[in-house]
Amino acid sequence: MKNVKWVVEDEKRKHVYWPSEHMKKRAWVSDHSVYQEAEKDPVAFLAKKAHEGLDWKKKWNTEYHHDEHKPWDFKWFIGGEINASYNALDRHVKAGKADKTAFIWVPELTEEAPKKITYKELYDEVNKFANVLKKLGVKRGDRVGIYLPMIPEVIVSMMACARLGAVHSVVFSAFSGESLKDRLIDADAKVLVTADSCYRRGKVLDLKSNADIGVAGTDVEHVVVVKRTGNAITWNDAKDQWWHDLMKDAEDYCEPEFVESNETLFILYTSGTTGKPKGIVHDTGGYLTQAYWTTKWNFDLHDDDIFWCTADIGWVTGHTYGCYGPLLVGATMLMFEGAPDYPDPGRWWKTVEDYKVTVFYTAPTAIRMFMKFGDEWVKKHDLGTLRLLGSVGEPINHDAWMWYFEVIGGGRCPIIDTWWQTETGGTLINTLPGIGPFIPTVSGRDFPGKKHVIVNEEGQEVKPGESGYLIQKPPFAPGMFRGIHKDEKKYIENYWTRFPGHYDTSDGARLNEDDTIRITGRVDDVMKVAGHRLSTGELEDAINKHPLARESAVVPKPDNIKGEVPVAFIILRDPSKASEELKKDIVKHIDKTIGPIARPSEIYFVHDVPKTRSGKIMRRILRALVRGDADVGSTITLMNPECVEELKKMVQHHG
Ligand code: WTA
Repeated sequence: MKNVKWVVEDEKRKHVYWPSEHMKKRAWVSDHSVYQEAEKDPVAFLAKKAHEGLDWKKKWNTEYHHDEHKPWDFKWFIGGEINASYNALDRHVKAGKADKTAFIWVPELTEEAPKKITYKELYDEVNKFANVLKKLGVKRGDRVGIYLPMIPEVIVSMMACARLGAVHSVVFSAFSGESLKDRLIDADAKVLVTADSCYRRGKVLDLKSNADIGVAGTDVEHVVVVKRTGNAITWNDAKDQWWHDLMKDAEDYCEPEFVESNETLFILYTSGTTGKPKGIVHDTGGYLTQAYWTTKWNFDLHDDDIFWCTADIGWVTGHTYGCYGPLLVGATMLMFEGAPDYPDPGRWWKTVEDYKVTVFYTAPTAIRMFMKFGDEWVKKHDLGTLRLLGSVGEPINHDAWMWYFEVIGGGRCPIIDTWWQTETGGTLINTLPGIGPFIPTVSGRDFPGKKHVIVNEEGQEVKPGESGYLIQKPPFAPGMFRGIHKDEKKYIENYWTRFPGHYDTSDGARLNEDDTIRITGRVDDVMKVAGHRLSTGELEDAINKHPLARESAVVPKPDNIKGEVPVAFIILRDPSKASEELKKDIVKHIDKTIGPIARPSEIYFVHDVPKTRSGKIMRRILRALVRGDADVGSTITLMNPECVEELKKMVQHHG
């Protein structure tokens, strides 16, 4: 690739890369005409793409409808009938791709054999498991919880739900039993699919006991248990059944249920600004359209590619780029069960070498972790098959970008920095590999057919070189979520109120001189901890449930590897109880309520936290304190300005 000098105000950002001739020739998109066509008539363009990319049983009668007075109430492909699993499996099998590998599954234990699962094998398993679910009473529209580690059954379960027109709700397997329970209740799930245990760094973790906590007191009638490790677990005869027993008797074929395009495909819970996670609802036809085209164009997938998206399937990235997208385009993907550095920090790179991965998609937090382990772990392996790299989940800093580009990509592979959210279903802002430019810390421009703008407090568009709030203009992307499950009020308030007529992303962004966009990060109380989305409110709620805690405030602190880490300020009911032991107990309590990913990196027992006169916690001041800012900003409007000095001393002492 040629390195073109680009004059910017940021000294470090002197790198701008363009696609090589080879990349341009190979890429699905390599000239700007697709952008022009999309801009002229985005609805017609996206409808054409929906038709080209997917098989519809019945064509829609209205491409797009959105009510001027209720912009959040938009619909794509009204009246169209489609089935997700048919599009991901049946049509490939019918088109002669039955023997193509759908995915390679790489287990965590190096002594265990990997599996290659062809499209036909996956099709067979999905058909059978759909019949199993049907027998358990699952019908179109019913919700099924999935609480599984990264094993093939998680994809089979999702696809089986989709086949029946049922709604899956996958819960990240590192979430606690309590978290699972909240989600199963909110989703009114009827069935849960889980496993006896999972492996984590060679150790066996009992998942079933979490699942037991999760289903207690819910409407879940059946629990299907995959035998992964074979260790002893508790068993409830009234509800529990083994996956392999049920599959033995299942029939081979299950007719796919074609649903109206706007029917729900899945609910995925994510953190918002309040304590309670939100059930993000995705529809079928719009989501699949976005998943199909973004997978194909961003990662430029062709028949000979091996695509590895490292995200856990419990997050949206795992849904769209570790399941739906690659299967819809008929690609071969890799699914890895384990931790990135187990048994050693060369594991990922050995995996790339062993399976000849060509396209690799991960998060900046992982890149920074590997940077710290050192180049020698990478250099041991031949990464020559890689041709394209992707980044997602948080802003990527310049140094991580350069290291990813040079050490992992060998200076050959463009980095596609994809900006999107659980709510958007698929990527919305990124450079396309055959078009470029690839610039460290810059995501790029709108995916064809979409338009985002950056505005100031008053909703006016900022000028190039300025920063502001990132908002989406209508027509809204087909992959956009369709609401928060059972909470329309919150849906409208959170996303559609601040900038009327637009979707509010809650992200800050900067418009560059060349019209590309750089994402600067969240402007609300959502944190990105090692790529995982967590809210300060959720953590505070969990801490406040500890019997000795009266009140708490959680803020993110920048971290060189994880991006951000939570720091907790806790006011105890009885301050004399403060001790290191209590800190440990609170951590244990957080593990139980949310899961270990939410552990604070520091806990301070304090007498008070800064509050406004109306009693609202001033997080701005706490954020400045943990960042180590010399100036924490004005304390004039505080009810209790004196507490700031005490906190400052504590934090400085710790730092
Ligand atoms: C952040 C993950 C910068 C952003 C797909 C967004 C990013 C939040 C990028 C959504 C990126 C995601 N550059 N920031 N390329 N991608 N983000 O729902 O703050 O887990 O709002 O979805 O991640 O996180 P979520």
